[in-house]
Amino acid sequence: MSKIEISSVEQLPEKLGKCVKVGDMELALFRSSSGQIYALENRCPHKGGDLSQGIVSGEFVFCPLHDWKICMKDGKVQEPDHGCVKTYKVEMNHDKLFILL
Ligand code: FES
Repeated sequence: MSKIEISSVEQLPEKLGKCVKVGDMELALFRSSSGQIYALENRCPHKGGDLSQGIVSGEFVFCPLHDWKICMKDGKVQEPDHGCVKTYKVEMNHDKLFILL
């Protein structure tokens, strides 16, 4: 398992997504209002919307294209839609954020 630095907490404003490239992967990072940090694949399972541009509400992000509701904890698309986005474990060390691959 490798640990890759992706951002600092300070560069991640609350409820505003941030797109980060790691190799050929694109991640959407979010900090919820409860302070929890999430990393998801930056691609909506519907038609590939850029999730880092989505609207955050609680522990959910709404895709900017057609408003699918996706849980940031487990990546599951909420009913009535279906699908799943890959999620990544985030570790915080002081102000630095890492993902575990
Ligand atoms: S592309 Fe995300 S809801 Fe359609």
